[in-house]
Amino acid sequence: MFYQLCVALSVLVVGLVGHAESRFTAEQGKVLYDNYCQTCHGEDMVNPGTVSYDLRKFPEGSKARFLASVSNGKNGMPSWKSVVTPEDMERLWLYVLTRGQ
Ligand code: HEC
Repeated sequence: MFYQLCVALSVLVVGLVGHAESRFTAEQGKVLYDNYCQTCHGEDMVNPGTVSYDLRKFPEGSKARFLASVSNGKNGMPSWKSVVTPEDMERLWLYVLTRGQ
């Protein structure tokens, strides 16, 4: 009986945690952006668009390019794959789609 209860509880916990992890929001992306990206790309993604890319203009349909550039780095931008998890890159993408509004 105790064993069955434990199994039932762990299924419930795994279900809840799994559910929480699959909920990506732009707000979470903004927190990550402020920590990792803002220094170069500017507050609320506003920057002169000279050296670092103006992320508000990043093409909406180019998610694969976004993930590749952020993972591997590009010219003056370092690679982020050892710092930012794939889940957090999804969150950053949602934030970029808000255009900082
Ligand atoms: C050390 C400064 C620096 C930081 C920090 C930085 N970037 Fe960049 N980023 C750059 C520069 C410089 C470029 C322009 C690269 C080029 O095309 O020459 C760039 C370009 C980009 C591009 C456009 C890539 C493309 O395909 O054209 C994206 C998307 C991007 N950054 C996202 C991010 C994200 C997300 C973060 C935070 C995880 C971040 N950057 C942090 C400097 C930085």
